[in-house]
Amino acid sequence: MNEFRNWTSAAYGDARAGAYDRQVAGRADEHLAVELLSSLAQAGPALELGVGTGRLAIPLAESGTAVHGLDSSERMLDVLRAAPGGERVTALHGDMAAFDLPGRYRLVWVAFNSFFLLDSAGAQQDCFGTVARHLTPGGRFVIEAFVPAPEQFSATPALRVKDFSEGGMLLQASRHSDRDQTVESLDLEVTSGGFELYPTRIRYSWPAELDAMAGKAGLELEDRWETWSRQGFSADSRAHVSVYRRADG
Ligand SMILES: C[S@@+](CC[C@H](N)C(=O)[O-])C[C@H]1O[C@@H](n2cnc3c(N)ncnc32)[C@H](O)[C@@H]1O
Repeated sequence: MNEFRNWTSAAYGDARAGAYDRQVAGRADEHLAVELLSSLAQAGPALELGVGTGRLAIPLAESGTAVHGLDSSERMLDVLRAAPGGERVTALHGDMAAFDLPGRYRLVWVAFNSFFLLDSAGAQQDCFGTVARHLTPGGRFVIEAFVPAPEQFSATPALRVKDFSEGGMLLQASRHSDRDQTVESLDLEVTSGGFELYPTRIRYSWPAELDAMAGKAGLELEDRWETWSRQGFSADSRAHVSVYRRADG
């Protein structure tokens, strides 16, 4: 199913670039992510896929690791370049499923469910292969993503109120295909100043599927935690931070 017929990999970031930092403010686990990423990357170089505005890439660069950040949205990269500390991150325009960079990385990571913005199993497999080619021997690929709970998604188009205050509201229309493991959604933010639309199309994968894709690309699971703070992963975990290592390293 794909009702988003004009969807491109830049669509998510282009729509959100101006509002992204405001929308993700308050996650507050950045220092834990940077601590873990920094211990894996050491001096680097490290590469973030779907770098966005540099929420993690900038503090990691400031901690002493050489950091490159790839994104398919030029608008997101413009926000990154203009951010305080943004000049410390080498901003690269490209698609995380298929990029070709001269460097080889000790660490590549993709955070905050961004891997699922690759909206087909084929694109996700391509990404694993592309990443494997860009890792140094023994290099790591880290994915932070949610564990799917498909019963939470509605097959028929559904509308829900995500948030509201006296100044406005955030509504979301969404549609789920359990056959394709895709969710298409459109957030509508309404304030007295007007409205904005934020589209998203994802293809979710279970951890076991990711492990199989990794294996095909020559990567093996080294660690899996529930959170960046290395809390243990269990059958009840709703999210994971998975570390894959190049098997020949
Ligand atoms: C949820 S944001 C995450 C931004 C940042 N990594 C963070 O953790 O705050 C996802 C980012 O991935 C980018 N993106 C989406 N599809 C992409 C693709 N195929 N290749 C590269 N970047 C992509 C978007 O433009 C956006 O900046």
